[in-house]
Amino acid sequence: MKGVLVLLLWVSVVDLSTQYRYDNVTVDYVPWQLTEFKIEHPRPIGVLTTTSGAPVDIRQTNALNTEPFSNMYHLDDTTHTDVERIPERVVHAKGSGVYGYFEVTHDVSRYTSADVFNGIGKKTPFFGRFSTAIQNKGGNELAREIKGLAVKLYTKEGNLDFLTIHVPVYFYKDPIDFGPTVRSFRRNPKTNIYDSTMVWDFVTQKPVFLHLLMWQNSDYGIPYGYRRMDLFPVHAYEITNKHGESHFVRFNFRTEQGLANLTTAQAQAIASQDPNFFTRDMYNAIANKNYPSWRLDMDVITVEQAAHLDYNPFDVTRLWKKGTYHTVTIGRMVVNKNTDNQFRDMELSAFNPANLVPGIPGPPDNLFRARRFSYRDAHRHRLGPNHDNIEINVPIYRKTYTRDSNPPVRSNMRDAPNYYPNTFNGQEPIIDMSYPNIKINVFDRNSVDLEPIAEFYNHILENDAHRQRLADTTATTLVNVDRRIVKSALKLLSLVDQDLGHRTAVSYRAAQEIANAASKLDTKTRYEPLSRCINLFTQGRLNTPSMKKNW
Ligand code: HEM
Ligand SMILES: *[C@@H]1O[C@H](CO)[C@@H](O)[C@H](O)[C@H]1NC(C)=O
Ligand SMILES: *[C@@H]1O[C@H](CO)[C@@H](O)[C@H](O)[C@H]1NC(C)=O
Repeated sequence: MKGVLVLLLWVSVVDLSTQYRYDNVTVDYVPWQLTEFKIEHPRPIGVLTTTSGAPVDIRQTNALNTEPFSNMYHLDDTTHTDVERIPERVVHAKGSGVYGYFEVTHDVSRYTSADVFNGIGKKTPFFGRFSTAIQNKGGNELAREIKGLAVKLYTKEGNLDFLTIHVPVYFYKDPIDFGPTVRSFRRNPKTNIYDSTMVWDFVTQKPVFLHLLMWQNSDYGIPYGYRRMDLFPVHAYEITNKHGESHFVRFNFRTEQGLANLTTAQAQAIASQDPNFFTRDMYNAIANKNYPSWRLDMDVITVEQAAHLDYNPFDVTRLWKKGTYHTVTIGRMVVNKNTDNQFRDMELSAFNPANLVPGIPGPPDNLFRARRFSYRDAHRHRLGPNHDNIEINVPIYRKTYTRDSNPPVRSNMRDAPNYYPNTFNGQEPIIDMSYPNIKINVFDRNSVDLEPIAEFYNHILENDAHRQRLADTTATTLVNVDRRIVKSALKLLSLVDQDLGHRTAVSYRAAQEIANAASKLDTKTRYEPLSRCINLFTQGRLNTPSMKKNW
């Protein structure tokens, strides 16, 4: 007991950051968060109160042998805990929040009048939320699935939200596919387990999905942490300059840490010890002042060009063809601060791709138009009609004619007129010279086009070894899937490319045989070799010099 007291006293006068930062070593700050708090607050931070602010007597911190309902501290705590969960996001439920800034590095005024992108050196703060797409809130970040980053830039012209994923194509272009995708890629309603048969059944009937699935099963599938991936809003955005002239662009956030990925085995090994590795890696990079950054580029085509391409540039299920666009750098995004409260910031953040600013009218395709509605609807369910009044979502400046509803209402525009138009000097609209003067209609073809997938297989994958890894990974997702559906899947892969179909079929047969053999063993026996490895690993870890040594 005495030892513990001495230790705590000692810690309180030492600065953790100098004590534990070794040269060239990334310190894991995660376990030290509370110790750091104590160092910053050498004394208790104040008097304990009930939620209504009444000081709590020490006798109220024990509810035994008393009438529990007259103890407000007890009632308060229990009834608030009862309701502390809110709905998790329907997709991208597992997230982690960060702060940073965006800095303009190039002059792009001839493309967009957006204030946030004009003025070299201009910095705009943002809140960002990294996420993994399919997992539930407590899920495994190392799962092979789409990662995302949503950023909310607090610009002078309102919030600008970019919702990005870590591959440059999307699953589908028809908004009607949203619901079936969310359900088929998630838990089987009876088994409550993710179900490859559902995924492949759906995908074989909607072959357009195969493109993103191929990116996901390739080396691009599992990035080596949130810092080591590129990020794409995917849609082609219309942007306008101050003369109202339009261009179409695809934004690309390119990692300045270098792309890097994990194999399935590496990811599974890490997940067995630390399913929060992505969050930890980001937290520690920031805590160690090794701030991750991304260069923001845009691929540009003119309106003229867009009308004469031999492909649909607004189709999010394909890439723009090489040679049909040029690339312009806008600036740099730097992540440099951990949030001090994940629920307040990350969980309550409400991103909406429709949160755009003058100079960026946004994508004209049907999928995007559906998203303008869908995110609002999701936020109303999850956070309520006033989600934009929650601290993290409030723009720098805002004056609306909307009022009331469920809290938070903030100032509720006080005594200003609550209808428009009015003659009593309520807020007035601007005249935006950049407001687009053309109306774009996108015509989407309904036919199946496997060409972009063949292009990915033959030209984006750099060699046969990578093609083999893609086939192997795809084959493992077919193991134990209904045979009829496996047959359709292999057929579809062959239609994309004979070689892809063949490699996957061979690999599938081998993988299924191994699975059949393994199924004859009971679970404990089957995992015995892996258990032994993990044992060795944990012992090894206990023996490695750790930060504890310096205590
Ligand atoms: C290019 C296509 C898409 C991209 C890049 C994308 C990206 C994202 C990202 C990054 C998030 C996580 C947001 C967060 O961290 O809070 C998200 C959430 C979500 N997405 Fe998408 N998404 C796409 C398509 C769609 C479509 C087509 C729909 C529906 C029509 C949709 C509906 C949703 C919904 C409802 C959420 C949950 C929002 C919430 O509850 O906060 N997404 N998406
Ligand atoms: C840290 O890394 C730098 C550059 O790689 C190297 O020159 C230096 O010797 C390293 N320091 C230690 C203590 O290992
Ligand atoms: C994935 O990682 C391997 C090994 O580090 C590397 O050779 C390859 O280029 C990476 N691929 C991608 C797409 O990042």
